[in-house]
This record gives sequence, C-alpha cells and structure tokens, in this order.
Amino acid sequence: MSLPNAPGKLLIIAFLFTTDAVSAASLSGKDVVDDKCVSCHDVVGPAPGTFNEMLRRQAPDLFYAGSKFNRPWLIDWLQNPTPIRYSGNLFLNYLVVQGGKDMLAADAVKPHPRLEPKVAKSVADYLMTLKDKQMKEGVIDRGKKIRKPKAVVLFRKRLPCVACHRIKLGARTVGGISGPDLTEAGLRLNPDWVYSMIENPQYWDPKIAMPKLAMSHKKRETLTLLIASLKKPGERKNKALSHSTMVATMESETDPLGMRGHPADENYRLYCVQCHGSLGTGRGINDSGGGLTVSPKNHTLAKEMSKLSDENLHLAISEGGDAVQSSGLMPPWGGTLSKKAIQDLVIYLRLLCQCKGP
Ligand code: HEC
Ligand code: HEC
Ligand code: HEC
Repeated sequence: MSLPNAPGKLLIIAFLFTTDAVSAASLSGKDVVDDKCVSCHDVVGPAPGTFNEMLRRQAPDLFYAGSKFNRPWLIDWLQNPTPIRYSGNLFLNYLVVQGGKDMLAADAVKPHPRLEPKVAKSVADYLMTLKDKQMKEGVIDRGKKIRKPKAVVLFRKRLPCVACHRIKLGARTVGGISGPDLTEAGLRLNPDWVYSMIENPQYWDPKIAMPKLAMSHKKRETLTLLIASLKKPGERKNKALSHSTMVATMESETDPLGMRGHPADENYRLYCVQCHGSLGTGRGINDSGGGLTVSPKNHTLAKEMSKLSDENLHLAISEGGDAVQSSGLMPPWGGTLSKKAIQDLVIYLRLLCQCKGP
C-alpha cells in the first residue's frame, strides 16, 4: 500500500473512489508498524531471555527505538534500507562450514521492506516515541573533541571491539562481522544509547553476544565519540557462501560433542563460536571474515590445550587474553558469565580437546 502524494483535493477524490487509498492515507505510524512490522520486530519487549528465544528472534528489537536511533537516519533508512548486519540477524542461524572454516550463508541478508517518504516519516515519529525510561539522556556532549588516533587504538588494540565490529580507517575497512557494521553508526545511533550499550550490553539484550567490559567513564566516552564520528559507509567485503546442501549437514557437523541443549554448549555457541568457530578449531566468522589479526586458539588441539592448566583456561575466559599473556582480542567474559558457567566452559573445552592440563 502506498500513500497518495496528492494535495487535499485529490485525497477527497480518492476517498470517493477508492477506500483502500484513504485507509492508507489515514493510517498512523503505529497502525503501519502494527500491520507491517510486528511479524518480525518486537515493539513491546522484553528482549529474549533464553538462548532458544534468542535463536527464534526474526529481527532486531524496536521497543526502545526512540532511545537508540537518530531520527533523521531512521526516516532515510526506512525509505532506502541498506544492510547493517552481515548476517541479517543473528549469525548463529546462518553459519555454513566449508573447508573447516565458518562462513555466512549468502542469503542471510534479505531485502528489507521499503516505505514511501510520508509513511517513513510517520513510522519514524512513532518509533521515536518508544523510549527506555531508565536510560540517562545528555550523558554525551556530541560536540566534544577527541583525539581520534588514540580512540582508534582503544577500539582496535586495548579493547577487543574490532574483533566483532567493522569500522573505516582512511580508505581501509577493518574488523569482524559478528556484530553490526559500525562504519555509519554515527548517523544511526544516539550517542547516549551507545554509551549505555557499551556500559551494559546485557541490560538492552540479555542474550547479546557482546561482552560487558569493565572500563572507565573516560574510555567509554572516548569510544562513544569515536563511534559518533563514523559517518561514511565502509566496503562490505564478505565472502558469503550459498546455502543449499551445506545447511543440511551442518547440525551434525557442528555438534561435535553431541551436547545440544546443555548450558555450556549454549554459552559456547553464543559467545565463543563467532571467533573460535562452530568446530572449535579457531576458524569462526570473525577470523575468516578478516576481523582478527591473531587467530583464535584451536580448542580441539590436544597438543596446545594440554599446555594450559584449568586455572589458566578459567582466567583466560574470565579476564580475557591480556590476563594470560595471550591476545587482547580474546575478550573477558567475567562480566557476562557466572563463575559456574565459566567452570562449565572449562570442562567443555577439555571435552573438545580430549585432553587434561599439565
Ligand atoms: C521480514 C521481516 C521484517 C519485516 C516485516 C520488517 N523488518 Fe525491519 N528488519 C528486519 C531485519 C532482519 C533487520 C536487520 C537488518 C540488518 O541488520 O541489516 C531489520 C532492521 C530494521 C531496523 C534497524 C534496526 C537496528 O537495530 O539496526 C529498523 C528501524 C526496522 N527494521 C524497521 C522496520 C519497520 C518500521 C518495519 C515495518 C514497516 C519493518 N522493519 C519490517 C526484518 C524485518
Ligand atoms: C565478541 C563480539 C563483540 C565484541 C568484542 C564487541 N561487540 Fe559490540 N556488539 C556485538 C554484537 C553481537 C552486537 C549486537 C547484535 C545485534 O544487534 O544484532 C553488538 C552491538 C554493539 C553496538 C550497537 C550497534 C547497533 O547498531 O545496534 C555498539 C555501539 C557496539 N556493539 C560497540 C562495541 C564496542 C565499542 C566494543 C568494544 C568496547 C564492542 N562493541 C565489543 C558483538 C561484540
Ligand atoms: C572476539 C573473538 C573471540 C571470542 C568471542 C572468544 N575468543 Fe577466545 N581467543 C581469541 C583469540 C584471538 C585468542 C588468542 C589466541 C592465541 O593467542 O593463541 C583466544 C584464546 C583463547 C584461549 C587460550 C588462552 C591462552 O591462555 O592462550 C581460550 C581458553 C579461549 N580463547 C576461550 C574462549 C571461550 C571459552 C570463549 C567464549 C566464552 C572465547 N574464547 C571467545 C578470540 C576470541
């Protein structure tokens, strides 16, 4: 259905002759969303609280859209939607293993419904009313200057952001593909929301595959302002594979331990597979997608894994690669996972490598 781009007089004529056009003209943003969007998007909340609910989610949540987006971007994007996530939605639903490496299925990204300019505006106006009452506004001063090279070091070296997100540096686009592309995030996202998101990703989305990382206000502010400065699309190079037969074989191939449904298996898939791969061999989408300068540990290699004690494994998962003189691209999960969940992951790793520590 499209809105007639007509002045009042024509609308009356439309009213006389086609009831359909009038109903479109009189639809509010909320009506359009209820009619055309809620089959995929949740506009009510809460976000999925379990692994299985999260697997079933069709599209990003919109129930806090008014806190998350910049209104001008929303109006433009709804008329001309361009891909944001490399996997369309959650990467786990689109993994394909080829030659021992995880890749994303080519049909993961589907064309998004497009709206006429007037409808886009009324839909955006409605979505902008969907706000999170707890989020603090005015935390970030958008005009504040940062030293960009220092901010980039934070994003790429001191913290593992680049392992999962792509940004554009000069002419080069770098970074992983399990998280949304951030090359244009300055246009899309409200900096106050970005700040809150970095501070506590699980507040917004309990089963998000992004770690909660401890850092100072100053660092979080610097990262937020860096993201707010990203306004040009980067190159979207991603070797996607066609679906077809590979998917049918995937379930058995990528369940090496036969532990589907166990909490440790769910945690491994949600948090680790994006880098360590669905076979545990270190070839996840962030590695094959070019996001990592150091390849993640091969968890199936007994020769390597038997050199690491259980305490070392626990520490690496909890505090990240830096804590065990490994790569800082290995994120710390202690802010996201309980001690028990990490202990279970250590056991899970021992099953993967079929080995013991020294
Ligand atoms: C068939 C399912 C489907 C329908 C119907 C649909 N969307 Fe989406 N939408 C998606 C998916 C999948 C994405 C993620 C796209 C990406 O990341 O590239 C998305 C992304 C979005 C985003 C960006 C969200 C974010 O957090 O990045 C907005 C805003 C949005 N949709 C609004 C709408 C509106 C408004 C409608 C109704 C007019 C609608 N969508 C209908 C599947 C759908
Ligand atoms: C292990 C992977 C991973 C790491 C590391 C990571 N993120 Fe994320 N991030 C994600 C995922 C996954 C999402 C959300 C997925 C979705 O909405 O589809 C996300 C979402 C975001 C968003 C919201 C983007 C949007 O468009 O919805 C921002 C901003 C963000 N991350 C910034 C950061 C920053 C800054 C860092 C480093 C401090 C970081 N991330 C580290 C995986 C990661
Ligand atoms: C953002 C990518 C990424 C994610 C997500 C990730 N890792 Fe890693 N991991 C790495 C990298 C890179 C290394 C370093 C490899 C090296 O230096 O040999 C690593 C190393 C490790 C090591 C070896 C540490 C050592 O002492 O050498 C363990 C154990 C490990 N990861 C477990 C996990 C577990 C469990 C998860 C999920 C909870 C996980 N990783 C999630 C990237 C990642």
